[in-house]
Amino acid sequence: MKADLELLASLAKRRGFAFPSAEIYGGFSSTYDYGPLGAEMKRNIRDSWWRRMVQSRDDVVGIEAAIITNPAVWVASGHVGGFTDPLVDCLECQSRVRADHIENNTCPVCKAVGRFTEERKFNLMFRTFVGPVQDEAATAYLRPETAQGMFVNFENVQTTMRRRLPFGIAQIGKSFRNEITPGQFIFRTREFEQMEMEFFCHPEQSLEWHTYWKQERMAWYQTLGFHPDHLRLRDHATEELAHYSQATSDVEYLFPWGWGELEGVAHRGDFDLKAHSTGSGKSLTYFDQEKNEHIVPHVIEPAVGVDRLMFALMCEAYDEETDEKGETRVVLRFAPSIAPVTVAILPLSRNERLTPKAREVWDLLRPEFRTQFDDAQSIGRRYRRQDEIGTPLCVTVDFDSLDDEAVTIRERDSMEQVRVPISGLVAALRERIDALTPKAS
Ligand code: GAP
Repeated sequence: MKADLELLASLAKRRGFAFPSAEIYGGFSSTYDYGPLGAEMKRNIRDSWWRRMVQSRDDVVGIEAAIITNPAVWVASGHVGGFTDPLVDCLECQSRVRADHIENNTCPVCKAVGRFTEERKFNLMFRTFVGPVQDEAATAYLRPETAQGMFVNFENVQTTMRRRLPFGIAQIGKSFRNEITPGQFIFRTREFEQMEMEFFCHPEQSLEWHTYWKQERMAWYQTLGFHPDHLRLRDHATEELAHYSQATSDVEYLFPWGWGELEGVAHRGDFDLKAHSTGSGKSLTYFDQEKNEHIVPHVIEPAVGVDRLMFALMCEAYDEETDEKGETRVVLRFAPSIAPVTVAILPLSRNERLTPKAREVWDLLRPEFRTQFDDAQSIGRRYRRQDEIGTPLCVTVDFDSLDDEAVTIRERDSMEQVRVPISGLVAALRERIDALTPKAS
């Protein structure tokens, strides 16, 4: 692994993936604003997930639920009572730290030993007030997960879409947690985006579905270009399980600091539907026509963060190559499906004859690919810049193009160059993109 945290955060800033939020005001703790390339890449990640989890399946549908909803949802889900971290204050340096992160009874900030307050529970939900009066009755929460939006809409979706078990409800959206120890760039932030799917199934089939979803999720990661050795499934020990979970396996990625959670694939049993039945007074059951009885479906939930996945993809793609002259080339070897730019159009130089020709080529490619036009600086520097943002293919328009109606395709990984006629350019690029696309084994 060649990537490290500082290196990637600095590349992300330099090249327009992610900036410290409100940097002109000195930033804001562990908060990032995504730049043009980051915004494109996140969109590609969401599209890939949605295509795989919703559009290409006939057993999953999507929704978009509200971020601020009835606070009763969070009482029933267990978040008001139980979504807490244990906190202590250091009596020496006044730092507030997570009790479960303290080693050898030593403050991680000032190293004082055994100088802590009593442990307190700290709720991770952001609170706000709805309407003009700021009192308890008006308290609401920013959602800490998108999942509850699917549970409270179980019946609406099931009946309007005429669904039979098993079926899933998926959602992509922002979640918020007042994390005590955010950090590691965009790995853990207070505002983040989740892609979650709740798969409702017959209780007797739930273990089989849990196994199915673990495998299916691993297969998707391979299509994004992760090396199989850099991903693993890890089952949670009983004491690690969240309050709602019967069994959870994490998809872990080998981050620069070691293995860490990328996605959770949880078996939530009937916890949520039962909790919302009790909380709302509305029965959330499913009528099993074969058995002629009402049952409470069980739920399997694959859940991953867009931001965390973007960071993992950057770690995975980062590479450095040194040539015989000792010059280093930095390359992000992104799969074409997630690269912010798939094809860059580069006139050999800024010139009154070349520029219009290159723009003509750009017009041809724009509707087909995610493109970028760049005519500043030397061609060598422009190739390096495209390598560093992970663009799989460059198209160079030179003076010969004016006569022979052909251009050069240059591949990011092999740096091979091949001349192709403009009339066959779209097909030639498609062929190469296909060849560069990782296939699930
Ligand atoms: N509904 C289940 C749930 O929310 P989770 O393990 O807390 O489970 C799922 O979150 C995923 O969301 C994580 O695996 C991670 O990818 C992402 N995630 C959670 N907290 C995050 C944070 N503070 N910053 C960035 N991503 C986060």
